[in-house]
Amino acid sequence: MDDFDYLGEGKVYLDSACQSLRPRRVIDALNTYYIEHNSCGERVKYKWGVITDEKVEETRELVLKYLKLSPRKYTTSFTLNTTYGINLILNQLDPKHFKKVITSDIEHNSPFLATMAFSKRTGLKREVIKRNDDGSINLEDCNLEKAVVVLNCASNFDGRKLLNIKEVVKAVHKAGGIIIIDAAQAMAHSVDIVRGVEADAICFSAHKLYAPSLGVIVWRDDLIPKLVDGFIGGGMVDDVLENSYLLSAENKEHRYTRFESGLQAWGEITALGEALKWLMKLPKKVWQNLEDNTNELYEFLKESKKVHLVNHEANPTMSFYIDGLDSHLLGSALSREDIMARTGYFCAHYYLDHVLGLPPLIRFSLGLHNRPEDIVKIKKVMEKIIY
Ligand SMILES: Cc1ncc(COP(=O)(O)O)c(C=O)c1O
Repeated sequence: MDDFDYLGEGKVYLDSACQSLRPRRVIDALNTYYIEHNSCGERVKYKWGVITDEKVEETRELVLKYLKLSPRKYTTSFTLNTTYGINLILNQLDPKHFKKVITSDIEHNSPFLATMAFSKRTGLKREVIKRNDDGSINLEDCNLEKAVVVLNCASNFDGRKLLNIKEVVKAVHKAGGIIIIDAAQAMAHSVDIVRGVEADAICFSAHKLYAPSLGVIVWRDDLIPKLVDGFIGGGMVDDVLENSYLLSAENKEHRYTRFESGLQAWGEITALGEALKWLMKLPKKVWQNLEDNTNELYEFLKESKKVHLVNHEANPTMSFYIDGLDSHLLGSALSREDIMARTGYFCAHYYLDHVLGLPPLIRFSLGLHNRPEDIVKIKKVMEKIIY
C-alpha cells in the first residue's frame, strides 16, 4: 500500500495492537504542524495559532463523527493514552454517587489496575465479572446497582468483542451507574462495535488508530456533576482568585478543557484528524485485504495440532503458543527473519496466566499495512520452525 511505502520489502510488522504503523500522510501532517504552524492551541492570536485551532477543532469533530456520537451530548478531550484517560476519570469520580466498581476478567492491565486503585481510594467494593468466550456478558449474573463499570469492547489478545455492549450500557444506566468503555482495540478495525453506543466515556489511544501517540476521552457532558476536581491547572480556567477558580468547562463550548490540563500535543492532535480522514475514506478492497490476510493466517495456525490459539474465531489479533517452544525464543527467531511479533502476556496477566494458566504467548496483530506476501512469508517461516 502506498501509504506505507517506507516499509522495506520483506519487513513484516505484526504489532498493530500495540501501535499501528502510520500512513505517510499522517506523518506528513505531523511534520506540517512543526514546519508550518508550530504554535500553542487555544490561546494564540497569531496566524499559526489560528491554523492550529482550526485543525484541533476539526479533529474533535472528526472523532465524534467517526464514533457516530452527537456533539450535543458528547465532548472530545485529549490526553496521553488510554491508561491515562481511564485513570483521569476514575481519579476524579466522586464516590458518593456509587456503590461499587466492576470490571471483567479479560481486561488489559490498564483498566484492571486502575479499578483496583479506584477501589482502594474510595473504599468501594471491586468485582471482576466473567466474560463469555464470545466476549459478551451475562447480565442476569450481575448486580449493577450504582456501579462504576469499566470494560473493554475488544480484547487485546484475541480481539473478542463485548457483543451485547448496547444492552450492557442500558442496564448500567437503568441501575444508576456509569460505564467507561476501553475502546483501545476497537477503534482501528472493529469500530462498529462501539459506534453510536451511549456510554458515559470512551477511552482510546490514537497510536493504535494509525495516528501518533495520543490519548482520547470521548465523554458525556452529564458526567460533570459526578466529578470532583483532582487534576487541574493551566488551560482549564476562565478566572482565578486567591483561593478559588472558575473552570472553563462550565461553558459547553470549552467543555473539553475539563480533562485537558496544561499544554496539549497539538501536532499529534492535528495528525489524528488526518488519520481519521484517511480511515473514513479507505476503499473496500483495503478492508477486504485485511480480512483475507486474517483468515489465511488464522486458518494456517488452526490447522497445526502443535499450535494452541487463545482465539475462538479469526481476528486480526491472534495469540497462541506452540508445544515445546518457548514463545520468547520464537519471537527472537521470527525477528531474525524480519517478522516483528510480540511475546508474553500482553498486559493481560490475570486472565492469560492466572485464569487460563497459559505459558507466555506469541501475538500476531495484523494491520492495514500488511500485504498478502507477508502472510506467505509468515507461513513459510513458521512451517520451518514448527516442523
Ligand atoms: C484493550 C487495551 N486497553 C488499554 C490499553 C492501554 O493502552 P495505552 O498503553 O495506550 O494506554 C491497551 C494497550 O495495548 C489495550 O489493548
